[in-house]
This record gives sequence, C-alpha cells and structure tokens, in this order.
Amino acid sequence: MLAPSDISLAQTARLDAPSITAQTLPPLLHRDVACIFQRSPEKLFELVQRSGSPLHLVWPHVLRENIEGLRAVLRKHDLHFEMFYGAKANKSQALLQAAVEASVGVDVSSIYELGAALRAGVDGCAICATGPAKTRVFHAALIGAGSLIAIDSREEFDDLEALARETRADSPTRVLLRYRPHASRTSRFGMTVDDLLACLHRLAISRDLFRFEGFHFHLPGYSHQSRVDAIAELMPLVQAARALNLPLRLLDIGGGLPVRYVESARFDAFARAQRPSDYRNGIVPSRFYPYGGRIGAADWLEQLLTSPLMPGLSVEQYLNRQQLTLALEPGRSLADQAALSLFRITRVKSLADDTFVVFAEGSSFSACETWFASEFLVDPILVSCSHGERPGIVPSASPVRAYIAGHSCLDEDVITNRLIHFQSKPQTGDLLVYANTAGYQMDLLENEFHRHPMPKRISARWDDEGRIETFPDQTQGVPEWS
Ligand SMILES: Cc1ncc(COP(=O)(O)O)c(C=O)c1O
Repeated sequence: MLAPSDISLAQTARLDAPSITAQTLPPLLHRDVACIFQRSPEKLFELVQRSGSPLHLVWPHVLRENIEGLRAVLRKHDLHFEMFYGAKANKSQALLQAAVEASVGVDVSSIYELGAALRAGVDGCAICATGPAKTRVFHAALIGAGSLIAIDSREEFDDLEALARETRADSPTRVLLRYRPHASRTSRFGMTVDDLLACLHRLAISRDLFRFEGFHFHLPGYSHQSRVDAIAELMPLVQAARALNLPLRLLDIGGGLPVRYVESARFDAFARAQRPSDYRNGIVPSRFYPYGGRIGAADWLEQLLTSPLMPGLSVEQYLNRQQLTLALEPGRSLADQAALSLFRITRVKSLADDTFVVFAEGSSFSACETWFASEFLVDPILVSCSHGERPGIVPSASPVRAYIAGHSCLDEDVITNRLIHFQSKPQTGDLLVYANTAGYQMDLLENEFHRHPMPKRISARWDDEGRIETFPDQTQGVPEWS
C-alpha cells in the first residue's frame, strides 16, 4: 500500500510539511491503483471525457486479492470456512463477477442482488440471503435456487414455513437462524435466545421442510471482541441444536471486517487537531467514520480466531472441536481499494475569507459516508489538466484551502465540509479523484437528482505491457421474477 507522498501529482498539501501535516488526510493507495497516476494520468481525463463525471473506476483484481488475503488466514488455521461476498457493498457487476470467479459465495439482501449473483454465474447453493424484510417472491426465488436463508424473526419463520409447505420443493429449504447478540440488544435484527430455542424446536419437527444449517449474526462496528462475545453467547445454543439432533454445521459471523483508508497515526493527529475554523460551516463533526483503523481485515480475522472464548479455548479451537464451518460475509473489506471515483471540477469560486469552494461535477451522494453518520473525510487527489508538461504534474506550489461541493442547488450537497489543503489551486477541468470508494461510499446513495444521469462505472486492469485496459461495467438488470 502506498501513501500519496510516494506518487508525483498535484496532490493535496505536501506530506513532509510539518506545519500542515495534521490538516491533511491523504488516502492509502493500492500499488496497482496508484500506478494510474504515475503512468497514465491522461487516461483519467480521457475516461471522464468519454463517460461523464462522476465516473467510478473499479478494479476487480483487487477484490480477488482481498479474498486471497482472508483465505490465507483461514487456511493457516486449518479451518473449514465459507466466504460470502456482501454484494450490498457495491453495485458493480464486475466486482461481483470477480468474487464469483474467485469461488466465494454471495450474501444477497434483495431479489435484485440474487438475480445479479446468479447472472454472475454463482451456484444458487453458494448464496446466503440475509436482511430482515425478505418478500414472498424473494423467499420463493431463494428456495428455487437452493440458497441458504437466514431467518431473522419468528414472523419470517411463519411466512417461510407456509411458503415451503405450498412449494413442496424437492429438498428441504436450507436455513440459518439469526441471533441478536447482547452487544446489539436494541437492534431490530435477529432473535433472542428464547426465540431461537423456540425456532430450534420447530425445526426439529419440520425436517421434511427445513434443513437447519446453523446460526448467523451481524454486528455493527469493527470490534473483533464483540464477535468473540457473540460466538460465546451462541455456544449453549449450538449444544441445544445438537441435543435436538439438528444437522448444524455453520457459524456465520456476518461482515464488519475493518478497512484502513489513511495511516492511523496521521488520522489520530488529524482528529486531535480539528478546530471549527477547519470547516466551512464552523462545526467540527461529533464523530467520524474510523478511517484510520490500526488493522486491516486479515489481521482482524487473525485476532478473532486466536481470541479466547473461555480460558484455554480459542475461537479457532472451538470451531474445529465442534466441527463447525466458519462463515463470513465481508462486504466493505473485500471491496477495499477496488475503486476510484473521479469528479471533474466545474468551477472554483473564491469566498470572502480567503478560501475557495470547489464545485465538483457530481453530487455528494457519489462519495459519501452519510449512512455511517460521518463527514466524508479523506482528501481527494487533485489531478491537474493544464499545469506542467502533462496532466497530473504540477509546477510550483501555491497552497489554498477549499471545501468540495456537489453540483446541486442544495446547500448541504457538500462532499467535504472540511477545508482541504491543496498544494496548488484547483482549476476548472482538473480532476478530483477519491480513492478507495468501493465499499458503500460511491453508490449507496446515488440518484438522478436534477435529472443528471446515474454515474457510470468502468472496470479496469493493467495488461502485460503495462497498458490500462477498461471495460463497461454492467450493473443492474431486471431479474426474471419481477
Ligand atoms: C447481514 C450482513 N452481512 C454482511 C454485511 C457486510 O458488512 P461489511 O460491509 O461491513 O463487511 C452487512 C452489512 O450491513 C450485513 O447487514
């Protein structure tokens, strides 16, 4: 992973300038992604010229690498495991396809994600459906595909049972029961221990309809210890299922593996140094998404597996002794570093207090962390179209501060309220490139406000000669069941 100090372009304030270090948050970059700034910055302009702004450039091979990183940890521990890519993290079909080609399953939360996963070629048996509000048509499609269904509530159990009776499928419907861990007591997702016990008894007398495969949970936040605690809470339920002679084989711990966006020391220094005057609205946000986490997904998984569930019994030992398969549903962490989001600058407007507002051609919904109650914080990379000898190279520095606004008429359409320190003043036609946006940030909230078309996405890879190749990335399609 590179920090942008390693790449030569019109970057935000220089990393080696101590006086402003705490004000800058340059993104960490995957080496292959960083290459485009060094080798072919002009390609970025060409792509935006052709496909419009904003434009998302996705890197499927990076997702495959992330899968291999987690696999290596799981193999080292000699564990049985099943990985499901959390397709909700990004609407890119190319990323989904990459996951399927890397032989992982897919975690789907809608009939549309199910359709996309099947189109990507995944076997229906390698699909796991989570989410609390599955419709009858979604349930029916899942039963038809032979997928695993995580039952969220006793009410969902009733609905599924009625449907399974009507459908009379050739084989029993495969189910998990979703647990609501103590750490998430007020969540609307999952069931209490009493509810789970009641479901287990129902499953024990409905073997013709259901095949019970295990327990599932998903927790917010990135603490591995909260997952360890949840597994410990499930231990008596595993015993209860076994006592009922149910064919339990799987513990599914959901997603929530962390991603590092910026160096942690820099993030800590930044967080300590925040003042109201650093923001266009004079407000330091009360919380930020944890952009500067100390560990990435592979180390997190290692910590989880080696943590004690009780003295003398680690998670790994427990799973192996109980002959349980560990299932996980990483979304954001598999998409780590797998996209760049490009915004063309339409105008740079001077403000009264010697700062600027940069208008990006696109909206704040194409690079945001709103659902995680955070300002989108990481610095964009400024790629200049006109400075220097070729795009991307900037001449002498004349630093400015600017916040980044979207192109809508709403005052709150702001990508970054923080005044970003640019090493030189951005110009109309330059590009702002947001790194590592694949995990929810680029397309979770995108829309056609002002009737702007939906942003396009293109998948990219380097060929053997070191040239970049790009392909259209088909996204949504209409499933046959709608
Ligand atoms: C049930 C379930 N599994 C997996 C995920 C993926 O989480 P993440 O993208 O943080 O890995 C989510 C995200 O909301 C989820 O709800």
